[in-house]
Order: sequence, then C-alpha cells, then structure tokens
Amino acid sequence: MPFPDIVPELADGVARLRAHAAGDIPRIVEQCTDPVSIRWTTVPVPYVEASAREWVEAIGREWESEKGNRYWAITAADDPDGRFLGAIDVRPKGAGIATIGYGLHPEGRGRHLMTSALRLATQWWFDQGGVRMVWEANRGNFASWRVAWACGFTFEVALPQMLDDRGHARDGWRGSIGLDGDLARPVAPWFDPPVLDGERVRLRPWADDDVAWVEPGDSPAHFMPPGSEPTRETFADWVLRRRERMSRGQALHWAMADADSNRALGDLMIGFHQQEKGSGELGYFLFPSARGGGRAGAATALAVEHAFTPARHGGLGLRRLLALTLADNDPSSRLLERLGFREWGREPRFCAREDGTYDDARHWVLLAPGTT
Ligand SMILES: CC(C)(COP(=O)(O)OP(=O)(O)OC[C@H]1O[C@@H](n2cnc3c(N)ncnc32)[C@H](O)[C@@H]1OP(=O)(O)O)[C@@H](O)C(=O)NCCC(=O)NCCS
Repeated sequence: MPFPDIVPELADGVARLRAHAAGDIPRIVEQCTDPVSIRWTTVPVPYVEASAREWVEAIGREWESEKGNRYWAITAADDPDGRFLGAIDVRPKGAGIATIGYGLHPEGRGRHLMTSALRLATQWWFDQGGVRMVWEANRGNFASWRVAWACGFTFEVALPQMLDDRGHARDGWRGSIGLDGDLARPVAPWFDPPVLDGERVRLRPWADDDVAWVEPGDSPAHFMPPGSEPTRETFADWVLRRRERMSRGQALHWAMADADSNRALGDLMIGFHQQEKGSGELGYFLFPSARGGGRAGAATALAVEHAFTPARHGGLGLRRLLALTLADNDPSSRLLERLGFREWGREPRFCAREDGTYDDARHWVLLAPGTT
C-alpha cells in the first residue's frame, strides 16, 4: 500500500495519530523553529518551509520501505479538523528493538497528548512483534522523561557524552520498556519536595539561582561522601543530580532556607532503598556561616514530621528513618539525639581520616511515633 494509506491510525480518548500531510507543513516549521524544540532535539537549524516539505516526502518513503522508520502526526482526539500538534516516530533497530522520538508543537504541550501518543506507538510496536522500546534524551530534559516515566519506562542510565547534538557531544539519558512492562503506570515514584514552613527555617526545592549562597565546605573530608557538597563551579551539575534522583524515586532533596530571607542554608535529603520499602535515610549539611543557630535541627524536625505523616495526609508514611554519622562528628550526633534518634550500632574503622587513621561510623534509627 502506498503512503499515506499505509499508515495505521491509532487513537485513544486524548490523542489521534495519523499520517503526515502537506497541509501540516506550516505547523511543522513552527514546531521546528520553536526554541524548546531546538534546545532538546536535533532538528536542523535553520529550518524553513522547504525543510518541512522534504521531511514529509522522506516520511512517505520511510513508510513505503519495509524496514523504514514509522512516523505519525499527533492531533487531539476531539479535533474534527485533525490540526497538527506534534509528531512521534518509531525507529526499528533490528531484533525487535526500536527507539522512540517525539516532540510537540507549542500549542500541543501541557495537554498530556504525548503520554497518550507514546502509549499508542509503543503498544503498536509490541503488536507488530517488537520486544523493547528505547527512549533517549539529552540529560536534563525532564519534560521528556516525565512522559516516558508516566508510560512505565524504566530510567536505566545517564551517560556522559552519549549524544551528538549538532556536532556537540551531550550527556544523555536512556531508558526503556519491554514486553513485561506496564504502559499504564510508572515503575517508581517521582518525588517533588513540598515546601514545609517552620518558625525560623523553611524546606523548599533547590533553585538554579541558589548558586549565589553556596559556600565551600570546611568539614573534615571524611565527614561527607565525595561530591556531596557543591562548589559554585559544580552547583549546576550537583542540583541536576538531585533532580535526577528525585525523578527516579531514589531520594527527596530540599534546600534548608532561612524563613525570612529564603536564603539557602544547606541541603537536607531523605534517600530511599528499594529493598527497604517504608524506610528512609537522612542526610544533611549546612554551609559554614549557617551553623550554630539550631537551624539544622529545626529543619530536620520538619523533614522528620513529613516523613512520618501518613501518605493519606500528604506525608511519606515511612515507618523508620536511619542516619549515619562519623564518631568524630559530635554536632551531627547531638542533632539526631535531640530529635529522638537512637544509636543502634557502631561500625569500627569505617573510613580513613586524612592523616591515615580511621574513624568509626555510628548508626542511628528513629521509628515512626506509636511503633516500637
Ligand atoms: C517533551 C514533550 C513532548 C512533553 O510534552 P508536554 O505536553 O510538554 O507534557 P505535558 O505538559 O503534558 O506534561 C506531562 C507531565 O510532565 C510534567 N512536566 C512538564 N514539564 C516538566 C519538567 N520540565 N519537569 C518535570 N515535569 C514536567 C507535567 O507537569 C505533566 O505532569 P502530570 O502528568 O503530573 O500533569 C514536550 O515538552 C516537547 O515537545 N518538548 C520539545 C521536544 C522534546 O523535548 N522532545 C523529546 C526529545 S527526547
């Protein structure tokens, strides 16, 4: 069958996937010259009407080739005119593996169209005998990951210099779903840190301009895991790593901030272990000039309350919190003791001090109120 009749129409209640048509060309140009599309895809720059015309012709040839890539135009299911709102493509790689590509016209965004389109295209691929759909994106494209996340894709890896972005080597993300996956739901939670207000401190998400408050850490090197304290130079990547972890359900990160000025004072995290459902591990540090006023304790108390608040009341509903301190680190241990944490074990010679001697680790636990 020739193009466009060869293109199967796919639809659910939200999106309809159909063959591209010459009438889509002006809107394809609008999409491909939109700054968000240029930022996150490899669309050619500059992009003019002739580029779109050649593109629609190439799509027809791909469909007519037995092993070619498969492209659909996306429209809203309830739009009788079938106005072009974006595109999605399935690129077979052999052995039943394919990669997915997608992008929306600015008018199509914010309507969950792509979540529907991705489910439809992936299900179509599996119905053709495909076994795996692979998603790749530039590192930091959370809007793209959110769509794949909602469709049950597993985030597998962030790789340095994975993608050729118009001649620049860019860090990339890769995830996938196989036949055993469930396109209807995410495989892990996506944590968004809620704003929690106390008297003197506030817990809130980190913002890009918090770089202004970053101070070099001055604690002994063995107190914190390497790379866990940012410098102004590493801050952008440090924040991105935290957002990555939250989007994969691995941790919740807040900035501890001054309640009056909103100035960032340090980091507070609860990390999650998959095999210990209901359990979280606390970690924190204050920038040096913010220490000594009891603000870390006040901020940690807010996080503890949120951790033990049942999920039906908006909390995490955890059953216990864990923490680890170095035996040399009295301020941190005192903070935990004041919050009611109990030391349950001590690990001898846990890590090396800079002078080559060893420090012990102290392990702490706090159970949810009402449990023993
Ligand atoms: C990626 C893209 C298709 C996503 O479609 P979208 O319409 O913007 O997505 P929606 O607005 O429907 O949002 C879907 C979800 O993602 C969330 N989201 C959107 N942008 C986000 C961001 N930057 N960070 C986190 N979540 C985000 C929305 O809040 C929504 O969540 P919800 O389901 O809980 O309501 C669209 O942004 C786009 O065309 N981007 C440019 C091209 C591109 O990046 N393509 C992918 C290349 S890999």
